[in-house]
Amino acid sequence: MEKKLDKLPIHIAFIMDGNGRWATKRGLPRKMGHRKGAEVLEKIVEHCFSLGIKYVSCFAFSTENWKRPKEEIDYIFGLLREYIKKQNQKGQQQQEQEIKSKNIKIRTMGDLSMMPKDLEQEILKAEERTKDCDAFVLNIAMNYGGRDDIVHAFNTLIKQGKTIASEQDISNALYSGGLPDPDFIIRTAGDVRLSNFMLYQSAYSELYFTKTYWPDFTAKHLNKALKSYAKRDRKFGQLK
Ligand code: FPP
Repeated sequence: MEKKLDKLPIHIAFIMDGNGRWATKRGLPRKMGHRKGAEVLEKIVEHCFSLGIKYVSCFAFSTENWKRPKEEIDYIFGLLREYIKKQNQKGQQQQEQEIKSKNIKIRTMGDLSMMPKDLEQEILKAEERTKDCDAFVLNIAMNYGGRDDIVHAFNTLIKQGKTIASEQDISNALYSGGLPDPDFIIRTAGDVRLSNFMLYQSAYSELYFTKTYWPDFTAKHLNKALKSYAKRDRKFGQLK
């Protein structure tokens, strides 16, 4: 299967939707859908890594998700905390083995100052610890909104007294500054919209929507999506 995936995206982004519906369908509390969703993300990240995809972004918590019940928000933050802590512990061992160049770089997008302080600290520690790792980048959107990203970028440029001479100046000031734009965005669970995700960065992204709920999404589903990507003719506004 992998051999047929000759045209792979360099950067793939996931809108991991359907966790709640997956759980409700099984008579489980919504939070169990998020837990399964976090497990699936780890597997999908590993699969992307093994295929040679270098950048993965994922939408873990949006600026709009604050409207959910506190219990659900706390549970999602708990999963993020668990994941980042695990990465930090793993990283500690790997650092000792001096294989930094083969490790995952963790980046985040969004206003972390509104997250619980201990989680913010753990994330900053992970970002700092992995800043020189360059085998693979996992970019997690937390308290992220695409419009907020643009407002934040403009304010950063204003504070730095910079003028905006090019589109690249804005790209660089976004939370994802330094990362290439996503080539491919996958949204699970049936809705056909971007829901305020990477609005500036997705100008030329190829989009893929599947009805599969995120907790049911497997490497097989990803391979199917990647086959669709490989068939697409990306023109970037030119004649080809
Ligand atoms: C959308 O499903 C999903 C979320 C709002 C949370 C996504 C979070 C995770 C997968 C876990 C944490 C991530 C990491 C990095 C460990 P929904 O709740 O909107 O589903 P619904 O539309 O069916 O209600």
